[in-house]
Amino acid sequence: MTESAGQALLEVRDLTVHHGQLRALDRISLRVLPGEVYAIIGANGAGKSTLLRTIAGLHTPTEGSVLLDGRDVTKVRPERRATSGIAMVPEGRRLFGSLTVEENLLVGATYARKGPWNIERVYEMFGWMKDRRSQRTAQLSGGEQQSVAIGRALVANPRVLLLDELSLGLAPVVVQRIYGMMPQILAAGLTVLLVEQDVSQALQVASHLQCLLEGHTTLEGRPDEVTAEQVEAAYFGLGSPSPGSPPAGPERPPKGGPGGYGGAGSPPVSGVGLGGVVPSGEAQLWSGSTTSSRGS
Ligand SMILES: Nc1ncnc2c1ncn2[C@@H]1O[C@H](COP(=O)(O)OP(=O)(O)OP(=O)(O)O)[C@@H](O)[C@H]1O
Ligand SMILES: [Mg+2]
Repeated sequence: MTESAGQALLEVRDLTVHHGQLRALDRISLRVLPGEVYAIIGANGAGKSTLLRTIAGLHTPTEGSVLLDGRDVTKVRPERRATSGIAMVPEGRRLFGSLTVEENLLVGATYARKGPWNIERVYEMFGWMKDRRSQRTAQLSGGEQQSVAIGRALVANPRVLLLDELSLGLAPVVVQRIYGMMPQILAAGLTVLLVEQDVSQALQVASHLQCLLEGHTTLEGRPDEVTAEQVEAAYFGLGSPSPGSPPAGPERPPKGGPGGYGGAGSPPVSGVGLGGVVPSGEAQLWSGSTTSSRGS
């Protein structure tokens, strides 16, 4: 692993996690420096969500540790990790669909650190949201729901924001818009650890990249240090897999949605097969839209 200088804000050391008999993560290590956007890429079943969920305290590792600002939080309960500064936008958003936008944001504020983020600030960031704060989130489009999920994490005032596949099920142009908020998040002093199957999207925003394959690290470095061929080989386990890695290839079928696979032989990229069509109501995710919309 490349040694990065400086004190890591988030560090994972030799993390091994089992789901029953399955070794979902095998001695994974990473160091996320303050202000970084650190991207974890990998195919279905690589262990990306398991990694984020373990950092958030939702899985107990078999071995290894998680450190926040040098403090070992491996045995700290999830709600205490939230108040210590770790917040997650989970895969699939996991909003309470029968609750309103504002009620979902209030859930995020339950275990919050003190800090600059509050619901009003989230409304300022997502201009459409305040006018629709009383709408149930089940009635929102996919992109709008993702925005609420991000807002719910922000109101906890995290130091480290964990983002699990923001692109999932969203049209490429919406994904671009969602990721377009990254500068605002970083300007507010946050550090980001994100997971993506959409490699081109991850490469656009990441300052550091790590590829997982079936629980192992297959590539790690700055985006400008790695070639497309190396990324492809690491993603699919082509060439020389790391010791102990099984043969290449995802075992599970790809998830649906435009963030899914871009075709055999290449890691998935934004834009495949959709031609940049904006779903109704998504065009104004970041400004003052008041139009109601459904689906993504
Ligand atoms: N709660 C669980 N119980 C049992 N097995 C699990 C559980 N969660 C994940 N797994 C298995 O662990 C492995 C890693 O899953 P994980 O969800 O972390 O992968 P992922 O990289 O996030 O995949 P995806 O891109 O599909 O979201 C997979 O084989 C998965 O089937
Ligand atoms: Mg996942």
